[in-house]
Formats: sequence, structure tokens, C-alpha cells
Amino acid sequence: MSDTLIPDRKMALELFLKYNKTESLLKHALSVEGVMRFMAGKAGEDIEKWGIIGLVHDLDYEMYPEQHCTMSRKILEENGWPDEYVRAVVSHGWGLVSDTEPVSLLEKTLFAMDELTGLVTTSALVRPSRSVLDMEAKSVKKKWTDKRFAAGVDRSVIEKGAAMLGVSLDELITDCILGMRTVAEELGLKGNPAAL
Ligand SMILES: [Fe+2]
Ligand SMILES: [Fe+2]
Repeated sequence: MSDTLIPDRKMALELFLKYNKTESLLKHALSVEGVMRFMAGKAGEDIEKWGIIGLVHDLDYEMYPEQHCTMSRKILEENGWPDEYVRAVVSHGWGLVSDTEPVSLLEKTLFAMDELTGLVTTSALVRPSRSVLDMEAKSVKKKWTDKRFAAGVDRSVIEKGAAMLGVSLDELITDCILGMRTVAEELGLKGNPAAL
């Protein structure tokens, strides 16, 4: 494989769907992709690249949960993906399953937003509108210390991510919601329009 390959979105989605068949994992991938695209636009960075990395960040999770990130590295390298993409994907598991520390703005953003998309999703689904379109950061903040709510979401990772980026939790959550609004239709988080 040539190492000049620039992955495009179609290639990334095909690769993701080759290894992931679960609806919830696809929705998670689309959430993170939408947020990464939004954040790239905000920062004046490469929207396509940020989105693609967001889309494939959990590539190995369905088939190799015990080797999370390690197998993604292997698969992406075998498919000729550039080091920058591979490194960014692996760095989202920093401190848990990977020792690759997020360094670039892209990597820090992925690290901070990954878990947060889960908390935003769960927070949206318990609202009367079941929508992210009319949701604000305070709906998520309310659930921050409720350990039983979205129990799988590690708040400390999100807090670490916000600190890395030098932004407040409120700002991070607001950006995450704005990013998820751009893909609300695909995520099933537009709610019932009649309820809005
Ligand atoms: Fe992950
Ligand atoms: Fe993830």
C-alpha cells in the first residue's frame, strides 16, 4: 500500500461497516463524526479529515473489545492509512487502552468529545422532546454527578479532555450539542417535531 493514501469518507464508512454491524455503534460513530466536523469548522481545520477520524475511531470495538485501539491500529495500517490518522484514532484510548497521548488539537478534541456524545445522547432521550435540537448544556450538566445516569460514561475522561483543550465543561458540552444537531436526523435525535 502506498503511504500517500488520503482516506475519503466513503472508504472510511465502508471500512467501519465491514467491522461493525451494531446500530448503536454506527450511531456513536456518526455522532463523533458530526461533532468532529463541527469542531474542525470552528477551528478552521480540515473538516473532512477530522470527520473521517471521528467516524472510524472505534473501528475495532465490536469485534475486538479486549484489544480496543490496538486492533484499529493494525487494521488501519494494513489498509494503508496515514500515520496521522492512525495516531489520532489510537490516542482516544489514552490512559485506558493506549499510551498514545493526545497532542494535536484534533486528538484532544476527539478525546474530550468521544464519551460526551454518549452523555448528550442519553440526556436527549430522557427529555420530553427526545431531541438535541432544543437542548442546552444545562440538561447534561444536571446529570453530571448522577452516577446511575448513563453509568457507562466516564465523566473524568471528559473533564480531562476539557482541561487539555483549556475550555470549560459548559463550552465543551455546548459544542458537542451543536455538533450533534448537524446529524440529528441520522442519530434519531430530532425528536417528534410536533412536540417542539
Ligand atoms: Fe473507544
Ligand atoms: Fe467512542
